[in-house]
Amino acid sequence: MPELSPSDAAKDAAARAAVALVQDGMRLGLGTGSTAVFMVHRLAERVRAEGLRLRCAATSRATCDLAGQLGLRIEELDEIGWLDLTIDGADEIDPDLNLIKGGGGAHLREKITAAASDRMVVIADPGKVVETLGAFHLPVEVIPFGLEVTRVHIQRLLDSAGLSQRPMLLRQRDGAVFRTDEDNVILDLSLDCIGDPAQLARGLSTIPGVVEHGLFLNMCQLALIGSPDGSVIELTRIEGVA
Ligand code: 5RP
Repeated sequence: MPELSPSDAAKDAAARAAVALVQDGMRLGLGTGSTAVFMVHRLAERVRAEGLRLRCAATSRATCDLAGQLGLRIEELDEIGWLDLTIDGADEIDPDLNLIKGGGGAHLREKITAAASDRMVVIADPGKVVETLGAFHLPVEVIPFGLEVTRVHIQRLLDSAGLSQRPMLLRQRDGAVFRTDEDNVILDLSLDCIGDPAQLARGLSTIPGVVEHGLFLNMCQLALIGSPDGSVIELTRIEGVA
């Protein structure tokens, strides 16, 4: 493998530590994003070397394609039914292991998959660890029908919550509106600081047209934070603490 940048070396260290948790016979959820790419590679290496028998569900077409190329057999989540462990990346991780996800636009499938897992482990480089969520934009997956009306509802919610008012952006990729695997679109909210993530999550979930937001609250039990030198720090959440 070519020499990795410090950031990639940190991601790879976290990915290796997460893959070390995998045991023969497990049912796994495979996340999406550049950190998850390292995880899928490391998982495929272990499967080849040790003959692990795993059942894997992917959180995106991209992960499904990569896993297939590396020889991992991917099944539909519903074929597997329930997962022992989901390993995924994140855009931000707060001290309670609440997350912002969706930078890669896959947070809908990622949330469904994590919610169908006994355990969610997040892998990341140190730049993802924050005191308060919100510096990273908050992705909100929205149905294209009535997009502008949905935008008004979201803006009213943000106004009533006293959240800062920078324009929400309709996500673009390669000069066109980005479409998710479910063919929806994404509004990226620039909030700076989300003082009460639970309140915002509840509010967003009540808006017709919003399919899913990128706040993952009380879902992650362990975060593995890699460093460029290969070391890994474990952050754990005490169950029952919001
Ligand atoms: C995709 C995600 C990713 O896990 C998140 O964006 C982190 O990606 P990366 O590992 O590339 O920084 O939520 O929807």
